[in-house]
Amino acid sequence: MTFKTLDGLDVAGKRVLVRADLNVPVRDGQITDLTRIERLSPTIRELADKGARVVVLSHFDRPKGKRVPEMSLAPMAVALGKVLGKPVAFGADCVGGVARQTVAVLHNGDVAVLENTRFYPGEEKNDPAMAAALASLGDIFVNDAFSAAHRAHASTEGIARHLPSYAGRLMQTELEALQAALTTPVRPVMAIVGGSKVSTKLDLLGNLVGRVDVLVIGGAMANTFLAAGGVAVGKSLQEAEMHDTALDIVAKARAAGCEIMLPVDAVTASKLAAGVATSTVDIGAVPADQMILDIGPQTVAAIVARLAAVKTLVWNGPVGAFEFPPFDAATTMIAHAVAAATASGQLRSVGGGGDTVSALKHAGVLEKLSYVSSAGGAFLEWLEGKTLPGVAALEG
Ligand code: 3PG
Repeated sequence: MTFKTLDGLDVAGKRVLVRADLNVPVRDGQITDLTRIERLSPTIRELADKGARVVVLSHFDRPKGKRVPEMSLAPMAVALGKVLGKPVAFGADCVGGVARQTVAVLHNGDVAVLENTRFYPGEEKNDPAMAAALASLGDIFVNDAFSAAHRAHASTEGIARHLPSYAGRLMQTELEALQAALTTPVRPVMAIVGGSKVSTKLDLLGNLVGRVDVLVIGGAMANTFLAAGGVAVGKSLQEAEMHDTALDIVAKARAAGCEIMLPVDAVTASKLAAGVATSTVDIGAVPADQMILDIGPQTVAAIVARLAAVKTLVWNGPVGAFEFPPFDAATTMIAHAVAAATASGQLRSVGGGGDTVSALKHAGVLEKLSYVSSAGGAFLEWLEGKTLPGVAALEG
């Protein structure tokens, strides 16, 4: 796909509406991770430096069309100001008189954040009147929220029908990285997919087997594939009702020439708890009273060996119960191998999805992949091969 970027765009004196994703993690009223705000800042800085009057639109959490004070974007405006190193104004409404007044007093180079767009039901309904009301506040629309682009909402999709629309720098970086990983990849391509349930990643697995050369399946979802193939998995988490689906995916992979790698050994324990006694067993020898909680060392060695010939990697989901050491071992070992192959120039590596980011951070390699997406659901929908409405609205 093609989309317009900020390159060469004259924004001096213009009101530029930037759709950001300020849906950041918050605990006890404190922002606990600034990554999304830091990644957004180059776009805001570039526009402000070029003399734009920058107006940031975003949702936060799921207030369901009502004004919920705990879901205000006021703290995010303060955090954005700290990251930018300059004052950021806050408008206590995203449409109407208060919003208009907030925008009207901006000078060239100023930045304001408007209140949570999801305080209005029209946002999630993509109500044309809401989109028009938002659009009336600006001259240009810049979407820098790839992580919210799977939502066809007034501030992500509807608004783009009213204004000249551009991808911000973060959106541009995400799209370029993701397109290079799956749309026009250098082959062979490997995907590593982990996580607990086949049922939540069905579309994703179905899309990937038609696109990648090697699909590594780990995490509890591998148990479902193993059990479907007749392997006894003891007390392991698995979805008996998904066995036929798993077998369909294996058949589809075979037809597409995609190699599926399943665990050949596993680390087991009687329950999921940190520090519990563990055993390492071949996959055919999982005791009936044990559960698989990580892939074993032979499996890791096979994945790492296969990785040596791979040019592009897409990674979503940890391969073990990494939050409970020692079941983080395989994910961490693979993460280090991916980081080393990336550093050597052999591999382009792209990761994404909530747990994946935590697992890569835990392994200490978050900065060592070619690209780690800041998106959760949007990254998954992209892996599923879906058109993201917020991205489609920028096409052209
Ligand atoms: C995210 O955090 O993935 C995005 O901000 C989208 O949030 P949502 O799932 O509430 O639409």
